[in-house]
Amino acid sequence: MKTVITYGVFDLFHEGHVNLLKRAKELGDRLVVGVTSNEFTKQRGKLLLADSLDIRMANVRNCPYVDEVILEDHYGQKVEDIQKYKADVFVIGDDWKGRFDYLKKWCEVVYLPRTPGISSSSLRTAPYPKISFGIVGSGRIARRFLNEIKTVHGGVHAEHVYNPNKESAERLAAEYPELTVYGSYDDMLGSCKAVYIASPHETHYAYAKKALLQGKHVLCEKPLALKESEAQELYKIAEERSLVLMEAIKTAYCPGFNRLLSLVGTGFIGEVRDVECAFTKLTPTELRERSDREYGGSFTELASYTLLPVIKLLGCKDLSIRFESQLDENGIDLYTKTYISNGKVFSCGKNGLGVKTEGELIIAGTDGYIRVDAPWWKTSRFSIHHEDPQDVQTFQVDFAGDGLRYEIAEFVDRLQGWHTSDYHLTKEESIKIASIFEQYLEYRKELRNK
Ligand code: CTP
Repeated sequence: MKTVITYGVFDLFHEGHVNLLKRAKELGDRLVVGVTSNEFTKQRGKLLLADSLDIRMANVRNCPYVDEVILEDHYGQKVEDIQKYKADVFVIGDDWKGRFDYLKKWCEVVYLPRTPGISSSSLRTAPYPKISFGIVGSGRIARRFLNEIKTVHGGVHAEHVYNPNKESAERLAAEYPELTVYGSYDDMLGSCKAVYIASPHETHYAYAKKALLQGKHVLCEKPLALKESEAQELYKIAEERSLVLMEAIKTAYCPGFNRLLSLVGTGFIGEVRDVECAFTKLTPTELRERSDREYGGSFTELASYTLLPVIKLLGCKDLSIRFESQLDENGIDLYTKTYISNGKVFSCGKNGLGVKTEGELIIAGTDGYIRVDAPWWKTSRFSIHHEDPQDVQTFQVDFAGDGLRYEIAEFVDRLQGWHTSDYHLTKEESIKIASIFEQYLEYRKELRNK
């Protein structure tokens, strides 16, 4: 009996897949097919899938040429599987030509010609109109966004940029020729389907509101708003018009942070009792965040990140909140500690622009603790510890590029209607964060007057 093995994502199961599986089966008597898990698919750079793993596996299983379906979820698994399933032939489409020659040590390797003119990527994009993004603001974060959006498929393109300071937008467009520059926000809104707001904090609400009122989807840099009522209003408008509104706290959408939350939810450290996290960044005094008396400072700049695990683990209800800030001579906070408790779980978040500390996250529970290595907001490596210091489990999850690709992918996912849940960062969580920003700005005003 000759066993053939092949692998693939098999999203939106199509004719090209069937042809490949048919020819693969003809090379032997038994065909084993590995279907790639969602997480492993993402790790390999394909961020958007239309079908769930269940559907992808069921489609392959229902294909008459397939005898056995297995899950592929890690690097190195092909070598293991070939031995385990006693595969004589490894088959893959010739888009991979040469890439799997290393398997020749274990079995025959065959590259079959692809069926021309069809792919999951083209099917994912084709039935959906192109999503043309307009960017508001042309600073550091806009550049990162432009690089990251190129890694996300699903019909999304950044094509427009607006900045009231048109010269700044023109400088950006000189680096990214795909951009058309607008001197008027209304004109840009007329040309795009979605906006990414990357302007100074205090302008987010007004730009987002205007875009939503004109029927545009909004991906807004953090903080979405500086007042609870403003955040509520934005979500209300978005809901009424069936538009996607997302706050771009990148950590919320990255795979490592979500793995961490799932492990905590599974009870790996018992009941959570304390969350400690820090995000500090020594910043030159001439930058906006160190010089803007009204909206600059360590809290407004960095607290969106440190509030995220706190809100995720303490919830949004019945929180008692207290701040402590060290202000500079202009009344801008160089260092802020935020203490939040829900009565059962305590937390402390530290933010600094003029004070530096280790950027780690520690979640303490009744059975142990989780420590996420710095920089925890780009969650990649973390460990679970118990009473016995030898009893340590470590986890490593990819965090690709600057990480904005994860929030962009989720935005596209939701916009295209493939996945509609907002569980990575719910409306309630985003509104709560805005309300904490509002409380902080009140606190700082009082502190200045003391
Ligand atoms: N395949 C093929 N002909 C096509 C498309 C895919 O022979 N037109 C083969 C691939 O080479 C691979 C298998 O089908 O061996 C599963 O590929 P998969 O990655 O699921 O399919 P694609 O449609 O290529 O997906 P994508 O567009 O997302 O890369």
